[in-house]
Amino acid sequence: MTEMTKILVIDDQIGMRKSLSILLKKEGFHADTAENGEQAIDYLKKSSYDLVITDMKMSPGTGLDILYYVRERHPQTDVIIMTGYGTVDSAVLAMKMGAFDYIPKPFNNEEILHRVRKSMNHLEIVKDMPSFQKRTGAENNKIPILGISAAIKEIVAVVQKISKTDISVLITGETGTGKSLIAKTIHSLSRRANKPFISINCASVPENLLESELFGHERGAFTGALLERKGLFEAAEGGSILLDEIGSMPLSMQAKLLDVLQEQEIRRIGSNKSKAIDVRVIAATNSDLNRAIDTGAFRSDLYYRIKVGHIHMPPLREHTEDIPFLAKHFLESAMGKLDKTDMRFSPEALDFLQNYKFPGNVRELANAISGAVTVSEGNIISDQDLALTLTSSLFEMQKYPEDDTQPGSLEEWEKEIIIESIKKNAGNLTKVCSELKIGRTTLWRKMKKYNLQ
Ligand SMILES: Nc1ncnc2c1ncn2[C@@H]1O[C@H](COP(=O)(O)OP(=O)(O)O)[C@@H](O)[C@H]1O
Ligand SMILES: [Mg+2]
Repeated sequence: MTEMTKILVIDDQIGMRKSLSILLKKEGFHADTAENGEQAIDYLKKSSYDLVITDMKMSPGTGLDILYYVRERHPQTDVIIMTGYGTVDSAVLAMKMGAFDYIPKPFNNEEILHRVRKSMNHLEIVKDMPSFQKRTGAENNKIPILGISAAIKEIVAVVQKISKTDISVLITGETGTGKSLIAKTIHSLSRRANKPFISINCASVPENLLESELFGHERGAFTGALLERKGLFEAAEGGSILLDEIGSMPLSMQAKLLDVLQEQEIRRIGSNKSKAIDVRVIAATNSDLNRAIDTGAFRSDLYYRIKVGHIHMPPLREHTEDIPFLAKHFLESAMGKLDKTDMRFSPEALDFLQNYKFPGNVRELANAISGAVTVSEGNIISDQDLALTLTSSLFEMQKYPEDDTQPGSLEEWEKEIIIESIKKNAGNLTKVCSELKIGRTTLWRKMKKYNLQ
């Protein structure tokens, strides 16, 4: 490690503080000491530490206070808790709150140094690790958003910031780029993590049911409303709700949603009473809301209300440097699930992954790999194995271009593929959906877009 590793030691017993700090300095670390939580927090405000080693019982400011403070403000800092006799319960609590480790007193030099080194290794991995899989928040959470590209790193940093606030967030990007993953991550890093995260796809709920789905209804509110029903906003109380494909929300619902967001209260259909709600709203869309605003299909006031925070997910073809990394990750997870070991990609397969356009983005990459692991018989995954699960004609077109003209735009490809599949399945759209691995609404939308009957 080039920079000196900084450690803060906190204990109310001067003997413990002194001996630990001497030991750590002898090992080449920089060590500061504090005698209670309050003093420690003063240090932590002035300077950042790689590691905090703290006693549990002190006053003012206990070990748990420090842990809480560090997890909130310095998620990269590890905390080791020293526990005296009879404080094992709080050690367990501390681990649950995201302490890196604990050590029962009394301990010898080697025991504590071992834990310190373990933390150093871990910190170095964390610092170098492109995935930013750091433990943050009160919950020992990992950030599951992987990538080494500047784009993904920037997104992870924004996610970390936004998750500490309560603002509404709009996540835009093509399908499969990780919008839902981002929304879940924001929730799980937020103070709402222990409360529900509820996701609804606005495009898949028929217009007349959406209001009742979101806000609930009283018994007898409309024909068929035999029982009262709690809406998703109520179900998400204290937590977060993801309004997915918000671009498909009908205008009438948009007006109601705007009211709810402004008033922070909902009214069930058929009720004249409002109920206060505390729900964080995250919205996602793969459509261009600005265009929808121009055409009058989306309310601009709602747009600005949900877009207080904005995260745009780039398509995978714009951060191809993440492909090898993601591919390796999906390979490992597929091997784990299928109980296979030692599999790897052939050079052609890697080459193919690097050059394929991935219209379905990260989702398509993940599916292609888990499909390939399933079908592949030996240890080597070939490009043909990968092709099996990809929209096959797209693979063919990319791999064996028909002529030497430039390949067409993605949209032309997509249109071709849909036409081909409709023909092949004699117009059976259910089969088309399952062959192309897309949902009905998506297929409908695309058919409309390309004027296909
Ligand atoms: N950067 C990433 N790191 C790891 N997994 C990812 C990443 N981006 C997307 N994924 C995975 O790809 C799949 C599709 O992502 P998802 O969030 O459902 O996309 P979207 O909501 O934009 O359609 C999910 O399995 C998700 O976990
Ligand atoms: Mg999604």
